Amino acid sequence: MKKLDYRALPFGLEDLPEGWFSANQVNLLYQLALATPGPILEIGPWVGRSTSVIARALRKRGERIAFHTVDYGIASEAEWKALFGSSVHTKKDPDRYLRHINQPGGTIASLERNLTAQGLREYVEIHRGDFHAVAPAGPFALIFCDATHSRQEIDRNVPALLERLSPGGILACDDITPELEAHLLTRFTFRWHHLDSLLFYATIGDPAA
Ligand SMILES: C[S@@+](CC[C@H](N)C(=O)[O-])C[C@H]1O[C@@H](n2cnc3c(N)ncnc32)[C@H](O)[C@@H]1O
Repeated sequence: MKKLDYRALPFGLEDLPEGWFSANQVNLLYQLALATPGPILEIGPWVGRSTSVIARALRKRGERIAFHTVDYGIASEAEWKALFGSSVHTKKDPDRYLRHINQPGGTIASLERNLTAQGLREYVEIHRGDFHAVAPAGPFALIFCDATHSRQEIDRNVPALLERLSPGGILACDDITPELEAHLLTRFTFRWHHLDSLLFYATIGDPAA
């Protein structure tokens, strides 16, 4: 696959929920979701910014393509601490997290609310829990993962994602620095790969095949 060029999008960033997904990443993920034969798996929607991008592509296509998203769905400060080992109050802007965690239903409630507000809820099946335990087996033609922020997360999570990827399927990972890209290329063999605006996207396999 050739590296994607940016295209005009039929929606603005202001139409999307808050989150960590930049304009370039939105553009690239939207194109990947437009092109995939599906089904699609997302790990780490938080409150639905990247999820909305994928669901908007599916709505635009007008065809039924299964799209599963999986998140811990953190619903208390204690749960946050148990998962990440430090208090949410050590984050730069704790309120950004607390307003979603400290409500009935936790972050999944915000995810559902945000999808519903955009008319996108019907395009997404939401799963709560550690994806290793609750993600469907697939295989998926496109997996977008927002839980590969360190070498440790890559080592723990990418093998479980590759088990769920169909032959020739695309794995896309957010927040991949050049250093993490080098780690991915050391650990796994990709037929092709691209890194653009911290979004890594690739197909596993022999480059010579
Ligand atoms: C940086 S946030 C995602 C941001 C989001 N994609 C956006 O567009 O704004 C990472 C998310 O991954 C989730 N997560 C991390 N590891 C996970 C795992 N093993 N299983 C399920 N969810 C996980 C966290 O709960 C968190 O919601």
